[in-house]
Order: sequence, then structure tokens, then C-alpha cells
Amino acid sequence: MNLIFLGPPGSGKGTQAMRLSKALGLVHLSTGDMLREAVKDGTVLGQKAEAYMKRGELVPDGLVIGLIEERIGNGGLGNGFILDGFPRTIPQAERLKQMFARNGVAVDHAILLMVDDEELVRRLSGRFYCPTCKAGYNYPAQMPAKEGVCDHDNAPLARRPDDEESVVRKRLDVYKRQTQPIEDFYRHEGMLTEIDAGTSPDAVFASIVKLVN
Ligand code: AP5
Repeated sequence: MNLIFLGPPGSGKGTQAMRLSKALGLVHLSTGDMLREAVKDGTVLGQKAEAYMKRGELVPDGLVIGLIEERIGNGGLGNGFILDGFPRTIPQAERLKQMFARNGVAVDHAILLMVDDEELVRRLSGRFYCPTCKAGYNYPAQMPAKEGVCDHDNAPLARRPDDEESVVRKRLDVYKRQTQPIEDFYRHEGMLTEIDAGTSPDAVFASIVKLVN
């Protein structure tokens, strides 16, 4: 099963990709996670990407395509995969199509998670995580037992720098201008399925499982 998860920031791509990849034994490839790792490690790619990410802008296509080509070229797709956060522009989608054609890979579904803007801002403004164990929290729906501290290891919770409200609104604007056109790209390829992702995480997961089954 090979899947592409599409949707605006905060639509639940990461949450659902993590859950489905565990359930089906798929490789979960998140370009956002890969780029944040590169920033944390201070690699050349990370140094180039950091300023774009902080401003809520897309990292240039050449850098992100190189990152994905390296993973796919190294046989990093296992027996099935979920791409989360890639592609995000038409040139990325076209390049991915060429990479898959070269490697004989067929995509089963491009799943678009749809959520309205105010709910997206609410989700991202409330997102916190534990930098030590990576546990996620969301205020006020999913708060830790003790304010500001991880339930599992007592580490102080952190926020992604791009979850500040003004940056979230910029990311939404960038999505509409630069990423939304790939919805039509996959619609035209006959691969796109839209899912209402404004409901609970369990309900969204159930819709995705129903589709892939
Ligand atoms: P990336 O990390 O991919 O950010 P994003 O797409 O903006 O995605 P998010 O992680 O913010 O949201 P999500 O849809 O995964 O939702 P999540 O499950 O986390 O990219 C970051 C940056 O990297 C980009 O801005 C760009 O600079 C760069 N980048 C990455 N890929 C790139 C590319 N291909 N090209 C160029 N640049 C690239 O959920 C969010 C919150 O909501 C969580 O707290 C979660 O618990 C909660 N939540 C999830 N589902 C629900 C639900 N159903 N109900 C209530 N709460 C929910």
C-alpha cells in the first residue's frame, strides 16, 4: 500500500500517518520531520532550511527533492509507504511522478485531509510536545496532568517555532498559493480522495482505514 497524505498545516497528516503506518507496517516519510532533524543536527541542509521554516515558507524545491531522492534511491520505501508533507508544489509532484515511474512504484491513493482554517489555527496554536520523549499534547483538549510538564518524564514542554499564530496564518496562505494546486494534479491523475478531517482523530482514522481497505 503506497499513500500520499495531503492537507493544510494542522489537518492531521502526521497524526494519522503515524497511526496508519504502525497499523499497516508502512514506512512513514515526513519531510517536515526530516528537515527539523537536519536543523537540530546543524547539517548543511538544516542550515539552509531553517530560516524558511521559521518564516512559515516552503524550503526551496531543489533541497527537498534532493532529500526525498536520497531516501527513495536508498530503497527507503520498504514494502509500502506514507508520504507526509511531500509533494507540496507542482514541480515536486512532477519530479515524484518521474521517480516512481523509474522505480516501478504505483501510488494507491492521494488522501486529502480537509479542515476549516479556524480549526487549523486552533489546533496548531494549542500544540505542545516533549522534546525528550516526543509525546504530543494539545491545549485544551489534551493537557498534561501538570501544567507545562510532560506526563512521562517531567521534561518541560516545548512548541514548534512555526506554531506561533502569525506564522500559522502565513503557512495557511502558503498552502493555498503553492500547495493547493497539487490537489488538482492528483485529481486529474484519478488518485485523489477527500476526507473530512474536522472530526475526532478516531473518526478520521476510521475513514482512512475504510478507504484503504
Ligand atoms: P511540516 O512539519 O510538514 O508541517 P505542516 O504540513 O505544516 O504539518 P503539521 O505538522 O503542522 O500538521 P499536520 O497536518 O501533520 O497535523 P498534525 O498531525 O501534526 O512542515 C514544516 C515546514 O517544513 C514547512 O512549513 C516547510 O517550511 C518545510 N517543509 C516540509 N515539507 C516540505 C516540502 N515538501 N517542501 C518544502 N518545504 C517543506 O496535527 C496538528 C495538531 O492537531 C496536533 O497537536 C494534533 O494532536 C492535533 N490534531 C490532529 N488531528 C486532530 C483531530 N482530528 N482533532 C483535533 N486535534 C487534532
